[in-house]
Parts: sequence; C-alpha cells; structure tokens
Amino acid sequence: MTKIVVTRPIPGNVLAPLAAFGEVMVAPYDRVMTPAELCAAVSGADAVITTLNDRVGSEVLRAAGPRLRLVANMAVGYDNFDGAAFLDHGAVATNTPGILVEATADLTIALLLDVTRRVSEGDRIIRSGQQWSWDIGFLLGAGLQGRRLGIVGMGAIGQAVAARADVFGLEVVHHSRRGPDVVGPSTRIDFSELLGTSDIVTLHCPLTAETRHLINDEALNRMKSTAYLINTARGPVVDESALCRAVRRATIAGAALDVYEDEPRVHPGLLELENVVLTPHLGSATTETRTRMAAVAVDNVVAVLSGHEPVTPIRWP
Ligand code: GLV
Repeated sequence: MTKIVVTRPIPGNVLAPLAAFGEVMVAPYDRVMTPAELCAAVSGADAVITTLNDRVGSEVLRAAGPRLRLVANMAVGYDNFDGAAFLDHGAVATNTPGILVEATADLTIALLLDVTRRVSEGDRIIRSGQQWSWDIGFLLGAGLQGRRLGIVGMGAIGQAVAARADVFGLEVVHHSRRGPDVVGPSTRIDFSELLGTSDIVTLHCPLTAETRHLINDEALNRMKSTAYLINTARGPVVDESALCRAVRRATIAGAALDVYEDEPRVHPGLLELENVVLTPHLGSATTETRTRMAAVAVDNVVAVLSGHEPVTPIRWP
C-alpha cells in the first residue's frame, strides 16, 4: 500500500486529495521531529511532505528506502535538503515557489517601517509603564523618502519588495548574480557599492555555500553608520555575532530580523539591543499563503504518484 508521510499536522482539509493514493500518515507531534523520529516516520514511504525545519539528507532518504519517489517541501527555500543525497537516491524534490512572494515582501516592509520608525520600541515603552509624553525629540526615527534601499537577491521576493519600496519614495538598487541590469524601479550595482551607499539593506537571496555569512564583520563595516539591515531570507546569511557587535558599536543604526542562524534559538546578544526588531520566522505566515503552500505540496505528490512530472521541481545544480 502506498504510504504518504506528512511531517506536521496541517489545518483544514488540504491533504484530502492524498487519501485516494493510499495511507496518509501525519506525524503526531506539534513540534519538529528529531532526526531519529523523522527517520522512523518516513520508513517505507512513497512520498513525504516536509517543512523547512525537517533536514533531509542521506540518512533520512536511506531510512525512507527505495520506494521513496518524492519529498515535497512546504517552503520556497530548500537549504534543508541535501541536493547530492537526492541525486544519489533518485527521489524528486519539490518546493513552493511564487506562492509566498507577497506575504514575505509585506513582512519585509513591516520590518522596514518598524525598525526605521521604532514601532516596537514605542510599544515596549508603553507596555513597560514608562513615563512618556509627546516631545519634539522623543523616539525619532528615519524618514524613508529619498533614502536608498539596497536589495540583495533580486528574485521574485526581491522584486516584490522593490515595487513596494518605490511607492514609499525609496530609491531602489539591487545586487544579484544574474538577471537584467534594470528590474522594475531598481538598478543593479555591485555588492560593495550597495553596502556602502544604502540606507537600508534587505536580504532576499537563498542560503547557499556562497551566501552563508555574506553579512559578516567586513560587510557590516562597509555599511553606513545610519543604515539598517533587514533579513527575511535565511538566518545563516548573517553572522549574528558580527551583527551584535556592529549594532552595539553603532557601526550600523539597527536591524530587523525574521530568521536566525540556529532557529528557534536567537543569539542572546540580539535580545539586549533596543534597535533590533525580532520576529519569529513569519515571512509566509498568512492563512492564505500557508494553505496554498500545503496545497502545492499536495499537488506535487498527486502528480508524481500519478506518474506525471512534478509541478514545481527543484533542479539541482
Ligand atoms: C520560508 O521561509 C520559505 O522558504 O518558504
């Protein structure tokens, strides 16, 4: 009998189409499975639906066994998958491109406004019962009009951020390895110039060997002391220890992060910094987006188990 494993309970009836193919086993945990639990759960599976928290490498693929035809990641990023192990095993891997573009771009703008206008700081002042009153110099932030936004990684999310930023009157530049020099309102410049001239740097590149710790001491030292860093991409793109140092020493003005190097752990130094906004990986967290992500994972399983091409395959380099 065909076995389909889903690593996290998924609300609603998105999984319903899978029942026609065999037994659907949803992990009974409302948390990330340990590697041992994941290996046990996938044993003998034909298809597996994962989230970005499930690391799938040779051990998990071996544990699944030769029947495994597909692992469908409910995420656009797939740095939790080991491409070499997939190529070795032969199972197809899929992700959910295109679907979380708007939600992630919206959250990026929310963080941009929060950190530059000190929204969370103001909220903390009120909640902590501190005395406050309107004052000419109270909690001043940075206006956006005419400032420069530097986008690192000009894929679909970077482009959606550029379109929103343009409406706010920001000048938009980007750095990406491929693509045209002009994308919507944005012009491509080199990475070092982007760091040195942007008032806000926002990260929208995938996590790869080249982008791990792209934002390190050297990159942060290149940024303006009045500039902000935003990361809604993947935590390890930023060296969090270097970021703590840079904010503490006022090498940069502040940061807003949705993703962390070792989620769900957050570097303790970041927690102490008033001018760092922290959200718990909410980029795709709208009901509509999460439902569509699950639906696309299901569509991929249905396609592959029906003998068709996957809808959104990951192409390994
Ligand atoms: C979210 O972070 C995703 O990659 O889907």
